[in-house]
Amino acid sequence: MIEKRGLQIVDRDDDGVDRAFRADVLTGLREPQKAVPARWLYDDAGSRLFEDITRIPEYYPTRAETEILEAQSTEFAEQVGSGRAVVEFGSGSSVKTPLLLRAIEPAAYVPLDISGDFLRMAAEDLARKFPGLPVHPVEADFMREVALPGAVADMPKLGFFPGSTIGNMVPRTAVDLLRTMRATLGEKSKLLIGMDLVKDRAVLEAAYDDAAGVTAQFNLNLARRINRELGGTIPVDDLRHEARWNDSFARIEMHLVARRDMTFEIAGEWFSLARGETIHTENSHKFKRRSANMLLLAGGWTPVRRWLDSRRRFSLILAEATIARSAP
Ligand code: AVJ
Repeated sequence: MIEKRGLQIVDRDDDGVDRAFRADVLTGLREPQKAVPARWLYDDAGSRLFEDITRIPEYYPTRAETEILEAQSTEFAEQVGSGRAVVEFGSGSSVKTPLLLRAIEPAAYVPLDISGDFLRMAAEDLARKFPGLPVHPVEADFMREVALPGAVADMPKLGFFPGSTIGNMVPRTAVDLLRTMRATLGEKSKLLIGMDLVKDRAVLEAAYDDAAGVTAQFNLNLARRINRELGGTIPVDDLRHEARWNDSFARIEMHLVARRDMTFEIAGEWFSLARGETIHTENSHKFKRRSANMLLLAGGWTPVRRWLDSRRRFSLILAEATIARSAP
């Protein structure tokens, strides 16, 4: 059962330019450490490149998380119980979502995504795989509170946020999102969230700088997108991809590094990069048990169970909406 909701979420000017994209790029490039929010990596080309990344040998998170979902289906069923509406933040990945749905016998499936095309494809695919399961896709920005379809209003919810996407956010944004999810899902809800783990630096850096250069293309695609959509003149061939481990913030950072001094124009404004200077394009935070728990608690979620893959590289955590208390 597919319910279509046409929500207009991209605000374009007369030239067809996405205003939010332009504002984010211009504002970010005016800063001393140039930066562009990571969400702009995921246009159609970027989303396809990310799909390719999930299959490269060095990029372990997708395989590790899938292994947990395959291995722990009995425990999920015990902990989560049947009859919940599964609300996925980001539209269903082809592999992970069916594993969860098969494990827990949900009453409905609600994928939330900002990209209508990906959303509808994923929803149709899921509806085919699970005949009889009500599927209600919602085109929305899940960084804001979402009004869920009336059909699931009275069902207890299970939020599903795989992929360690939470790790793309700095802690204050991550906490905001966790609190927003709690508001979207309601009082009695649970959350199953993937969080990648701190590990050997070389393993992490290789996962974000693969030998085949797919991650490099994913990163450079942002500069190409700026040129294409914002009339930019960035000399893309003179930028190179870099993945750096930032130990004090426990995160991998992706940067575009200038191979030479350069000057370019974007939407009528001039910018320059000195040789070696960078544009920071993505963070991917890695967690330990306590840092993961602290983040969840700060966001209004009490961790109740944690599962790791056999090589202890990745974690899936089940949390419950924390009951507000004024006393200790
Ligand atoms: C989409 C957040 C899961 O941080 O591992 C992969 C994005 N960037 N390689 C991650 C990404 C470069 C990815 N997530």
